[in-house]
Amino acid sequence: MNTEELAGLIKTRRSIRVWQDKPVPEGLLWQAVELATWAPNGANAQNWHFYIVLNRDLIKSIADVVAQGMRLMASWFQQQGAAAFPLPRENLLAKAPAMIAVGIWRREYPREKVLAERAKTDEKAAEMLQWGSVLNPRLQSVSAAIAYLLLVLHQMGLGATWMTGPLSVAKGEVEKILNVPSDMDIVAIIPVGYPAESPTRERRPVSEVCEVVR
Ligand SMILES: Cc1cc2nc3c(=O)[nH]c(=O)nc-3n(C[C@H](O)[C@H](O)[C@H](O)COP(=O)(O)O)c2cc1C
Repeated sequence: MNTEELAGLIKTRRSIRVWQDKPVPEGLLWQAVELATWAPNGANAQNWHFYIVLNRDLIKSIADVVAQGMRLMASWFQQQGAAAFPLPRENLLAKAPAMIAVGIWRREYPREKVLAERAKTDEKAAEMLQWGSVLNPRLQSVSAAIAYLLLVLHQMGLGATWMTGPLSVAKGEVEKILNVPSDMDIVAIIPVGYPAESPTRERRPVSEVCEVVR
């Protein structure tokens, strides 16, 4: 594959939120996840875990708890007199033919333990501890894998959307449905299917977001 072909693949991938009512072959999703695990990741710890959800009832249950969470949030907005919470027009998750939920293990790196202890009495260690929470290698690693995953799914003719919004209102409930162990966090859900839309989206020119340091 030359750079032009790779650019074509990258630039034609879009977040897809409407799908054909057609099952997604399990084998394709396995293959996509396997390729995603070749993403760069902190210390090659590979501290990710993927749930391929094909059971439509389970997907519906996830969509239901998310909708409940959204309604709860909307009611809080209303009670506080804030601008209306943007409730989605329809529960797109409920119509997803498949879903991949991505988790990260909450295991502590040895450095974090040492820093946390040291930070109690040492300002520099406290500062480093703070940096660690922003750098968040676990989350950066899993994000790299998700980016690969979306690209591979697109190459396979599938359409998906990386979603954190639903988890922001129902993470605990989704984890319960998926039987996620207590030392794992689900950080993204990715509904997948054969696309029934072809949205376009633009990007800011690279000159606005990049500079060369000489
Ligand atoms: C970390 C992250 C969280 C996202 N969460 C949501 C979400 O909750 N709901 C949604 O519809 N799209 C979500 N998206 C998709 C973005 O809206 C989408 O990638 C962006 O608008 C650019 O569009 P494109 O993917 O088609 O290029 C998320 C994307 C990322 C990277």
